[in-house]
Amino acid sequence: MCMVMVLQSGLVGASAFNAPMLEHTEWESRYSSLIKSNTLPTLNVGINETSVSLCWHCDKDKAVAQVRLSENSDMSDFRLYDGKTTTAENENQLVCRVEITGLEENTSYFYQWYTENGWSEIKEYKTKAFADHKVLVVGDIQISEIHGDDASSQIYDGYVWNNMLSLALGSNPEIAYLVSPGDNTSTGNTAEEWQTLIMPEAMRQLPMALAIGNHDKKGMHYNYYTNMPNEFYGKHFYGLDRNFWFRYGDVLYLVFNSTSGDAPDHMAMAKEAVEKNQDAKWRIGVVHHGIYGAGDCIGDKETEILLNTIFTPIFESFDLDLVITGHTHSQGRSHFMENRKVVAAAESGKTYTDPEGIVYINANSVAGRVIMDYEADYLAYSFVKNDVTTYTTLEFKGNQLILETRRGDNGALLDSVTLERTKQHSENSAGNVLKRIGYKAIEVLGFIYTKIDTLVRKFS
Ligand SMILES: [Fe+2]
Repeated sequence: MCMVMVLQSGLVGASAFNAPMLEHTEWESRYSSLIKSNTLPTLNVGINETSVSLCWHCDKDKAVAQVRLSENSDMSDFRLYDGKTTTAENENQLVCRVEITGLEENTSYFYQWYTENGWSEIKEYKTKAFADHKVLVVGDIQISEIHGDDASSQIYDGYVWNNMLSLALGSNPEIAYLVSPGDNTSTGNTAEEWQTLIMPEAMRQLPMALAIGNHDKKGMHYNYYTNMPNEFYGKHFYGLDRNFWFRYGDVLYLVFNSTSGDAPDHMAMAKEAVEKNQDAKWRIGVVHHGIYGAGDCIGDKETEILLNTIFTPIFESFDLDLVITGHTHSQGRSHFMENRKVVAAAESGKTYTDPEGIVYINANSVAGRVIMDYEADYLAYSFVKNDVTTYTTLEFKGNQLILETRRGDNGALLDSVTLERTKQHSENSAGNVLKRIGYKAIEVLGFIYTKIDTLVRKFS
């Protein structure tokens, strides 16, 4: 029923994106023609609004990490960007990574990356406004693995993902980039999951910022298919673990790997990011696990206490405005939270100026599987029907941050709330400095927890 409604909603108009809705048979045909080559590039957010990066696989004997960029569709007067090649997860390919810098706002660019057959076909990428802008938030894209010879669930996930992007980008052509709180893939260890994730044509035009989820951490492929900015590997992270941060206009994102309990490194990344971006109007946290998310796996007390102990003091002592989470496959949004309590209501449709506390939004799952019902007093809003997927947009407009959550099949508005910031952040207040001093004890415990966790992973 869900996809019938997607198709009935029709083509959503011309936009800055080439993101056509496809019938299942059309998507299946696209999938079949692209899934084997393992050469599609990811477009990743850059360290700030003037840069993006490309990451792709190439035959190891022919790999050259170069990208051409031009303001002309015939690629005349192109700029050439050099990058790096590194080993891939397979023996036949290398991974090429190239950062594109010096982008200007609201500009049409054309680009090509170097493939084993020479320069790729030309793709168009339109930058958006740098100050006021809009962001797409989608969680738990979680592209399925192929089960034996059966790729049907992977094909279906890609189909839903493609058409949700088509709807969201068609309705919001001003979207500048995608933020996801992780579980981008299901097993984290197959190339096909990543190729399906980036198979929609829109992914050549939409830079993405992808957190690491517990499913991604089942494998190591995130390492080879992403190129996130300011990656922070810390002193104690293990395997896939890393955090990253980036800035776009007036917004600072702190993206944590919540699959690690490494408190010292989480705190260190937050300090680094905030100290280098004192002038950012908005501070947004991204973690995979739904600390205040809808969904009954958050009823697991051990997980809840662990997440709250490690992350909540960081979010609060650095005065974050919003935290984006996922994992529970249930859309929800909290009231204003502080110290694990609701400090003020955040009702749908209302505007709040300089509120106390942090709003947490919990993203749904793209393919809509394993929806978990859960109600809690901290939830202002919870949408848990299992036949509908959702997406959220963040619109930064002057002093306002407007959150809107819509159905992923027909775009109907489910929830909105507006935050207005007129004051400076308060991380230097006596209370917040004390919170960070008190956090030293948590850092010790987190360090011990991480060491034990690392040993368990090594020997399990
Ligand atoms: Fe998860």
